[in-house]
Amino acid sequence: MARVFSGIQPSGDLHLGNLLGALVNWVNHQEEHEAVYCIVDLHALTLPKDPEELRSSTLELAQLLMAVGLDPDKCTLFVQSHVPEHSQLAWLMECTVSYGELSRMTAFKDKSDRSEFISAGLFTYPALQAADILLYDTDLVPVGDDQRQHIEITRDIAERFNHRFGETFVVPEHVIPPAGARIMDLQHPERKMSKSQHSVNGTINVLENPDSVRKKIKRAVTDSDGEIRFDFESKAGVSNLLSILGAAKGDSPEEVAKSFERYGDLKSAAADAVVDLLLPIQERYADLQADPAETRRLLQAGAEKAQEVASRTLTRTQQNCGLLQA
Ligand code: TYM
Repeated sequence: MARVFSGIQPSGDLHLGNLLGALVNWVNHQEEHEAVYCIVDLHALTLPKDPEELRSSTLELAQLLMAVGLDPDKCTLFVQSHVPEHSQLAWLMECTVSYGELSRMTAFKDKSDRSEFISAGLFTYPALQAADILLYDTDLVPVGDDQRQHIEITRDIAERFNHRFGETFVVPEHVIPPAGARIMDLQHPERKMSKSQHSVNGTINVLENPDSVRKKIKRAVTDSDGEIRFDFESKAGVSNLLSILGAAKGDSPEEVAKSFERYGDLKSAAADAVVDLLLPIQERYADLQADPAETRRLLQAGAEKAQEVASRTLTRTQQNCGLLQA
């Protein structure tokens, strides 16, 4: 059975891009594979965070992930800082990746351009992400398209370490969904839907009410040529609506395009599909919120399960690179 690993940051609200680009696949993978999913609170600290907000968003995100369909009986769900092996392996990864490689990461360039305080952690972020993945002998990493470069650098780090110190890590592959891998901002379809861009009308949150979802999709930017076809280069807005509808229905955007002739009809169908997808998640979330103690118990059990694997990998890695065992 293949081992699957992925992570998500507890910063900002969970949005439709996270859901369609990653989480829908996470839920599918737990049925077929041994799946490990992590709320990466240490990664969230790379940008300034209010302590109380970080604590509550971590717990809320755990509840949201379960509402989306992650089942702690079928997968391992835990918080990154509860398994200290992540930070311990991250140092060894920092010593395996070069300054030049980290300087070429587009996520660092984007985020550092927008921040006043650029932490060293923001720069070495990919080393911690590599540690997350490599600790679990991961075969497959389901992510959206924006994580492609992070998975490639993880593969490079794993191969370099194996080459220097002998077989230590499984070299992972990314799994990017055919539809939904790049959900774009509804008002600025040339940039991805994101927690950090502060584009209220361009972003749909998973907890958003149906009226607001419909309004935002109705007002989504399209173009004036009136033709429905999937072509991100010249028709970003329409293509984004096709991606959203396709991903929500499990169809390809090209196939979806054949069923519509008018933008208005495409928008109504996309709005219905998104509302149908979100309502049951919102109902389950309301139930889960009633019992935060149970969520914390499940996260603790998840961390214990994760640590069994993580500690074995860390010990093997420490031995292979020459650290004297205590
Ligand atoms: P994060 O928290 O930004 O996003 C979580 C997941 O959502 C996907 N995603 C999108 N997919 C499609 N369209 C969008 N507009 C969109 N926005 C976000 C992301 O690709 C991701 O799969 N660095 C990671 C967290 C991480 C991680 C890991 C991921 C830490 N360690 C190990 C995988 C494996 C991040 O910031 O994701």
